[in-house]
Amino acid sequence: GRRIQEGWQIQAAARLQGTNLVSELLKHYPNETTAAYQVEGAAGEGGRSASIWDTFSHLPGKTHKGDTGDIADDFYHRFHGDIQLMKELGMAKFRLSISWSRVLPEGTGEVNEEGIAFYNQVIDALLAAGIEPFITLYHWDLPQRLADQYGGWLSALVAFDFAAYADVCFKAFGDRVKYWTTFNEPYTFCTVGYGAGIHAPGRCSDRKRCAEGDSEVEPWTCTHNVLLAHASAVARFRKTVPDGRISMNLNAEWAEPLNPKSAADKDAAERHMEWQIGAYADPIFRGDYPESVKARVPTLQTFTEADKAALKDTMDYFAFNHYTSKYATPTGDNQEEVAVLTVRPDGEHIGVQADSDWLWVVPWGFRRCLNWIDHRYSHPTIIVTENGVDVPHEETIPYPQVLNDHFRVDYFQSYLSEAVKAVEEDGVDLQGYFAWSQLDNLEWAEGFSQRFGIVHVDFKHELKRSLKYSAMWLAEFFGTSRQGQ
Ligand code: NOJ
Repeated sequence: GRRIQEGWQIQAAARLQGTNLVSELLKHYPNETTAAYQVEGAAGEGGRSASIWDTFSHLPGKTHKGDTGDIADDFYHRFHGDIQLMKELGMAKFRLSISWSRVLPEGTGEVNEEGIAFYNQVIDALLAAGIEPFITLYHWDLPQRLADQYGGWLSALVAFDFAAYADVCFKAFGDRVKYWTTFNEPYTFCTVGYGAGIHAPGRCSDRKRCAEGDSEVEPWTCTHNVLLAHASAVARFRKTVPDGRISMNLNAEWAEPLNPKSAADKDAAERHMEWQIGAYADPIFRGDYPESVKARVPTLQTFTEADKAALKDTMDYFAFNHYTSKYATPTGDNQEEVAVLTVRPDGEHIGVQADSDWLWVVPWGFRRCLNWIDHRYSHPTIIVTENGVDVPHEETIPYPQVLNDHFRVDYFQSYLSEAVKAVEEDGVDLQGYFAWSQLDNLEWAEGFSQRFGIVHVDFKHELKRSLKYSAMWLAEFFGTSRQGQ
């Protein structure tokens, strides 16, 4: 089942010949990424305790069809096979996240050796396959105990516990793992989890979307505590893994002014970039929150001089997740005062719609994002730690036709082409690229209905894995396919 149909290989080769996309700079980075709750399963095994995502996904009506990560892709039991697949594709690096409650079931205190042993096995199997592991410490699965005890990210106490957890991981894995990130997409989990209530822990302070609550305080409390927790963890990292590099995975949709001639639209677009990226990266690279945030968030906490010093230089590289772009224009309807749109007044759409309602295919926005980061933060080294797409109605396409994911291949090809332009024409220091995702997996509130994998997982038939055309295409694109080895 692993051999791709011959015709697809020929197509992949033909596409490559017609382009000069294979930049030397990107050649060494065919990489892919996953997250613990989305793939591991074994939720009640190996001494793991519940995270806020276990709790949330088990509440009625919170996820598509009540899907949970109880089993997910069963990566916990199948990682050897999945790593073998990656090896066959010639993947050079693999980004995974660690489940905090697998390592520290109480959230703090006693270490669960079974949890450490599991990640040691995964790391060692990757290294034996010639694949370099990248670790993310927090991909949204806070131990439920810490939410119960003090409200999780809403309490300043969380910084101590996060730093202690991080240090357990640095000590256990830092001898072999040199690339780390503390938090995955804090903008997403602070706004969607604490503002819109759509992700765990389902708190709703967004005055537009939610019936209860009339303020937008909690996403900013979360943001502030996340930043302080990041700084504390990085301080430990410097001592424990002095030869490692650490960052935080920040995400943004590109914001294009709805009317490029309108100053108000340009301001709105800039503001949207500052709210998504600047709120996290400005305190680290520039010493404080962006002015646009400070002016609009009356409850925003301030950094002490000690906080600012602790945050300084805590992103050794800029870890960036990117998928889509939107038009921006001012509105009075939200705190940010930005409305994002996918269609212009003349009826022109920003791109082609993918399966997720928020995801429109806009390759040129990727290049603009990379340039925005390059300019604002004085030419940092950027590693794209997520980029990918779900194919329209992929869930309903029968097997094996579903493996022929041209839409995803077109997405990767057009986005990578823009990345190459950013490097070669604009001089952006892009040094890596990870495709999201290695496997179809639990797409959070959307459950298993939305597929981002370059490897198909048959959730109805024993979680069988089959390579999609995009997996082969990426391997060919990066020119490192080790098939047949
Ligand atoms: C961002 C998140 O980090 C990841 O968990 C999610 O599955 C993808 N985007 C796709 O929505």
